[in-house]
Amino acid sequence: MSIHGKTMLPYIVRKVFEIQHKLYQQQIRACSTGRLQEALKIEEEQEFPKINEIKQPEESSFYYPVDKKFKHDPDIGEQFSYSQLRVRLAGPHQLQPKPEADDLQFGKLFTDHMFKVAYHKRLGGWQVPEIMPLENLVLHPAAKVLHYAVELFEGMKAFRGVDGRIRLFRPEMNMARMNASAQRSGLPTFEPEEFVKCISRLVSIDQEWVPHTESASLYIRPTLIGIEPTLGVASSESALLYTILSPVGGYFAGNSGTSTGVSLLADPQYTRSWPGGVGDRKMGSNYAPTIHVQKEASKQGFQQVLWLYGDDHQLTEVGTMNIFVLLINDRGERELVTPPLNGLILPGIVRHSILNLAREWNQVKVTERKITMAEVKKLVYENRVLEMFGAGTACVVSPIERIFYMNENLLIPTMENSDAVWRTMRNTLLDIQYGRVKHPWAIEID
Ligand SMILES: Cc1ncc(COP(=O)(O)O)c(C=O)c1O
Repeated sequence: MSIHGKTMLPYIVRKVFEIQHKLYQQQIRACSTGRLQEALKIEEEQEFPKINEIKQPEESSFYYPVDKKFKHDPDIGEQFSYSQLRVRLAGPHQLQPKPEADDLQFGKLFTDHMFKVAYHKRLGGWQVPEIMPLENLVLHPAAKVLHYAVELFEGMKAFRGVDGRIRLFRPEMNMARMNASAQRSGLPTFEPEEFVKCISRLVSIDQEWVPHTESASLYIRPTLIGIEPTLGVASSESALLYTILSPVGGYFAGNSGTSTGVSLLADPQYTRSWPGGVGDRKMGSNYAPTIHVQKEASKQGFQQVLWLYGDDHQLTEVGTMNIFVLLINDRGERELVTPPLNGLILPGIVRHSILNLAREWNQVKVTERKITMAEVKKLVYENRVLEMFGAGTACVVSPIERIFYMNENLLIPTMENSDAVWRTMRNTLLDIQYGRVKHPWAIEID
């Protein structure tokens, strides 16, 4: 066939292709419209939980399992054990002079030795644990810890008791919390008991660094970092678990933390955690963003930050401590209130211990419940706030004297009562830690 003497074939072929192309495009459009409609339908039908409807974990004063055997993910591989531990002691020339206990500040000096164990998935899991002279770490500049904050840590203490023996305080709780932080960071978990044995051996090697006084202690910093030398947010197939030790005095410079109470800045424009986040894990990434706020508080003349959450300004934590409020409730009872473990709050070991002790004593009503700044303010006006204090390993119990909130100073009479609950709690915990009383929470190191 030809038109004006030209063959029609190329024209027909082109037309066929054009029609096919149009049909194909229509098909895509039909298909994507269908998908969109489907998606819209799902969105209409499905009810997404609103942020404050997110299911909170059950109320409990510590929710990481400490008594059950820890369940590792099946692909973690080999665990390390204390029986494999290699020890390489520092030579006499590497040993440093010990400081005077009175000169100690928080976290400035470190002992002669450290503990280290590497994890490499491709080598089958945890490698051989080792105690060695304290040394710098060598990391590839792409190590995941340096880019994505794949890091977590713990804070524990060893105490030299009145009988000269060295004790740890509830170390199994630190291990449980650390494994929970590791799971959330995609880092390998470990056998809690084996790690405690390794830490105990490290402390016993550096035992002369445990201050010979009841006003100081040896801070223990177990740390786990992702060291896989690759960029990309993914789980680190290599990790390093290490522990360093630091003799410490009081946490707050120039204030033992008990002669005067601390002052707090409560600024609702800042928050440290949120539902679904990791406020309940001890990850380095939770702490860096608080530094600016702490600096702001110091600049304005306050010692610590009172962390609030939500439109109703719920109290969550104070600095790096859990918070307690002793108040007179509507029924005229003395009630010791601390915010519940709803994911926003670090499950503190001192917090848990205070709750244990207070419930055992049965002198005040003890509740883990939401408490807002509106309630605190009202109760302060009515003289019904008796005490407020922070609780944590670093300072044990730290009384609070003043809160600056929405341009107003709220004065808390924590220091005015000689038989205050905070003081009793602090003394009881110190009695246990320094072996003045025998207690199952204080674990002696051989
Ligand atoms: C944010 C935060 N809250 C609370 C605490 C207190 O926890 P713990 O009593 O286990 O020291 C700490 C310290 O570890 C902390 O960093």
